Amino acid sequence: MKSVATIQEVREQVKAWKKEGLSVGFVPTMGYLHEGHQSLIAKAVSENDRVVVSIFVNPMQFGPQEDLATYPRDLAHDTELCEKTGAALIFHPTPEEMYLPDFCSFVDMNGLTKGLCGKTRPIHFRGVCTVVSKLFNIVTPDHAYFGEKDAQQLAVIKQMVSDLNMPLEIIGCPIIREADGLAKSSRNTYLSREERTAALVLSRSLQAAKARCEAGERKVSEIKSVIEEILTVEPLAKIDYVEVVDSKTLEAVTVIEKSVLVAIAVYIGKTRLIDNFTYHMK
Ligand code: PAF
Repeated sequence: MKSVATIQEVREQVKAWKKEGLSVGFVPTMGYLHEGHQSLIAKAVSENDRVVVSIFVNPMQFGPQEDLATYPRDLAHDTELCEKTGAALIFHPTPEEMYLPDFCSFVDMNGLTKGLCGKTRPIHFRGVCTVVSKLFNIVTPDHAYFGEKDAQQLAVIKQMVSDLNMPLEIIGCPIIREADGLAKSSRNTYLSREERTAALVLSRSLQAAKARCEAGERKVSEIKSVIEEILTVEPLAKIDYVEVVDSKTLEAVTVIEKSVLVAIAVYIGKTRLIDNFTYHMK
């Protein structure tokens, strides 16, 4: 496995692979890799001849009050995980490599980016769309892999690829959880022991909501109440949002008639965690 920090080195490597007729899979990440990322890399390895993993904590997608400075980083650990999972190339650029001093072009989106996480993170998706477009242009993959834990991000990226005729396929991969149900996230590392226990309230509330959907409940207000009642019992939890939206358009619904995304964002102490499930109408 190769590890490079410049755009030119990535381009040269990918060009050589393409000359040989090899397919390229791509897993964009911000590093501090865990089993969730590993499952994306493993899927990419199983479906492509060569796999590129990018590790870049993208300053553009963090708001001024967010955790850019403290976001966890461990390139040695990430390199080991990529190597043992079968990636062929790690791309770990500096912010200066990605954003030249005169940088002034952005990829932005209406609609899908305005609700859910977009409400409290107004500049987030512009940063994500811009950096992911740049990474797609640098890596030129055939397939790119994103986790379903960031369900809104996945929907946004699929829309961007369709709107801008980007020549690749986006593949969503299931949420990977700890044995006790907590969705894997690099931000779990911020949690104290007490907060780690409290964080289980996210998956517990979603499980209860899912059970109500499966038992035939169709009123969104009821589903949201189930979640909110469980979350509010936990003193360390503060709700950012509890939403039930159409799984494609991400627009709020009042009655479950089609596939819906049930998505939550909750502060546990100072750490903002997200989780979700998609309920498919039978
Ligand atoms: O999901 C992430 O880790 C980031 O938002 C991404 C897609 C790597 C863009 O910086």
